[in-house]
Amino acid sequence: MSKVHVFDHPLIQHKLSIMRSKDTGTKEFRELLEEISMLMVYEVTRDLPTQDVEVETPICKCTTKMLAGKKLGIVPILRAGLGMVEGVTRLIPAARVGHIGLYRDPETHEPVEYYCKLPADSENRELLVLDPMLATGGSASDAITMIKKRGCHHIRLVNLIAAPEGIAKVQKDHPDVDIYVAGLDEKLNEHAYIVPGLGDAGDRLFGTK
Ligand code: PRP
Ligand code: URA
Repeated sequence: MSKVHVFDHPLIQHKLSIMRSKDTGTKEFRELLEEISMLMVYEVTRDLPTQDVEVETPICKCTTKMLAGKKLGIVPILRAGLGMVEGVTRLIPAARVGHIGLYRDPETHEPVEYYCKLPADSENRELLVLDPMLATGGSASDAITMIKKRGCHHIRLVNLIAAPEGIAKVQKDHPDVDIYVAGLDEKLNEHAYIVPGLGDAGDRLFGTK
């Protein structure tokens, strides 16, 4: 069974509370999502392997550490996942970026695929799938399946807010994928929106409603 990591850092919680408010406008929402994504990825990558390297400082030679192991890639789920890209790539500038396009059918709430473009060497990378919202889990689970079909099996899922239903779906479909969230919410409503959540992340991010 995969692990669920909930980030209770006060800065993350404070910023998330501002994002949740219906009075927070698009500009601030976008900035906060970027900031929280950066803070989250700092923790998501805490267990990355390092190796000893020789460095000559202005004072002397020393042995110090740099990242080792698999290179990183990020895969935002369109549209709302795009809002997490800038924050993550500020900390990991060498990460390659793939994109998966999925939207939820408003009637069935089932994900509909419309785009997939991953880095050519994805199978050799550790991939972070980015999406602010994990509601029914349908979109994230399908995105992970699409990635696995292309040969990549080192995947972590990073969400801002998750519902228990979404966590359960991803854990059932992808027990090898750890989930990282800033907020673990109560439930879904009759429209499969997260309660209390923050509403429609894509619309709030891009000002489309
Ligand atoms: C939202 C969100 C997730 C999905 C979560 O996207 O960004 O991708 O819903 O719901 P699920 O867990 O029930 O699948 P949406 O379908 O609204 O598309 P958008 O980002 O283009 O607005
Ligand atoms: N997608 C969103 O943007 N918000 C939700 O609460 C559920 C799905």
